[in-house]
Amino acid sequence: MMEAQQSVPEESAHPVPAPPRRERVFLQKSSVCSRSYFMVVMVFFHVYIINVIALLLYVHYNNGQGELGGARGGENSGRAPFDPPPHQGPEPRSRSERLMYLPRIEGIRVGHVQKVSLVPDRLHEMRTLSLKPLLFEIPGFLSEEECRLVVQLAQLKGLTESQVMVPEGQEELAEQLDLSPEEIFNLLDLNQDGQLQLQEILTQSRVRDGIWLTPENLREIYTGLKADPDGDGLLSLAEFKQLSSNAFQRFLQQRGVQSSQLVRNSRHTWLYQGEGAHHVLRELQKRVTRLTRLPPQLVELSEPLQVVRYEQGGHYHAHHDSGPVYPETACTHTRLAANSSTPFETSCRYITVLFYLNSVEGGGETTFPVADNRTYEEMSLIQNDVDLLDTRKNCDKGNLRVTPTKGTAVLWYNYLSDGKGWVGELDEYSLHGGCVVTRGTKWIANNWINVDPDYERQVRYQQLVSQAHSTASERSKPNADPHGDAHQDL
Ligand SMILES: *[C@@H]1O[C@H](CO)[C@@H](O)[C@H](O)[C@H]1NC(C)=O
Ligand SMILES: *[C@@H]1O[C@H](CO)[C@@H](O)[C@H](O)[C@H]1NC(C)=O
Repeated sequence: MMEAQQSVPEESAHPVPAPPRRERVFLQKSSVCSRSYFMVVMVFFHVYIINVIALLLYVHYNNGQGELGGARGGENSGRAPFDPPPHQGPEPRSRSERLMYLPRIEGIRVGHVQKVSLVPDRLHEMRTLSLKPLLFEIPGFLSEEECRLVVQLAQLKGLTESQVMVPEGQEELAEQLDLSPEEIFNLLDLNQDGQLQLQEILTQSRVRDGIWLTPENLREIYTGLKADPDGDGLLSLAEFKQLSSNAFQRFLQQRGVQSSQLVRNSRHTWLYQGEGAHHVLRELQKRVTRLTRLPPQLVELSEPLQVVRYEQGGHYHAHHDSGPVYPETACTHTRLAANSSTPFETSCRYITVLFYLNSVEGGGETTFPVADNRTYEEMSLIQNDVDLLDTRKNCDKGNLRVTPTKGTAVLWYNYLSDGKGWVGELDEYSLHGGCVVTRGTKWIANNWINVDPDYERQVRYQQLVSQAHSTASERSKPNADPHGDAHQDL
């Protein structure tokens, strides 16, 4: 995604590259199956990709040039970009005194073990698993009894399918934007070589909860449509322009897809952890506060606990838990406090704390395919048919895998620090997924700590919530329904 965003400013600076001319050789082979795959891919062209492009253009045109970087600008005091120690005291800010800091746990080095005090009478060990992302493992974070209870509570509440086939309500946006095929092509063409490689289409087309196309699927589509006559897996602009239609979304909804072909194949539910919740859930929240060392209100105002069950064959392809945040993007959790009219919203999950509620008989590891990789390049994730994002096929090729062990917690930061004690840019290395469960069932729970990279917006949100609490404490359960599934992978 970052690749795509960076290509926006360039896009206006360079004219559309002329696509190389290509001879049309018509293959007679055309099957119903291939056609349906084509429809699948076109849904993403028309629905999802255009939404992403819309965001990029929106940011671009509303921002002028060169303002893409930070969510908050205009307060450069010439300080060195280091984390101030948490006790240093508030630093003056442009509009308000900064009263909150986000301390980060020190990783030191991979393999480093530190003792943490989370419960009375016992110290836990916290081991550093990687520095990019900053990732820790804490065995025994939950007792056997607590694991069992959380699973039971989830079962009592009932779990629902984690995936929604096609995100709705994005077609209008596409129409409003009125992009020509040339413009779309140019935005998709990350490396600006005038051709669309398989990777360029695949990396853009994988939505959360969408359909997971493999390079083979895509080749089939090309063949069925005669979209790529020379079979080199590249699409020129002329070829791309032929691939336009509108009625695909309906088709996809009728057609039904196997759950193994989805981005995500699991069931989940949400457990509220606020006042009145089961004491074990309350206690877990307190433990998370102690572990993360964050201001307690931040943890309390975050999403409820998400409990997820993967059956045998379940998986979750690699993704980011948060989206990149621009001034025009609203965080789902602080939407109340955002008074811009932006239609773009993303989850802002500063930290993920993942609990393993059972030990899985086979598979089900959590993979971090690019953890501590020297560099990160989105295009390199799919090479020669090895797709590092594919957790059904290539978990063994990623850089780091965590084996699920009952009671263990893993914690990682989805954002970097801004160097001033608040949230910085999305950490692309936090890419992770759930490997396919080969035997048994896998139960996990996620605690996401929501923080708005826009400090003022976070503060305003917290003020609004506490006002609501003091006026009508009955109806103020701000995190009872956090748009549960807003799990963005932009
Ligand atoms: C948002 O609204 C608040 C009050 O409703 C106002 O004080 C603030 O200036 C507004 N911010 C922006 C950026 O418009
Ligand atoms: C991982 O790092 C290596 C060495 O810098 C690089 O060649 C490779 O492309 C990186 N992988 C990804 C997915 O960026």
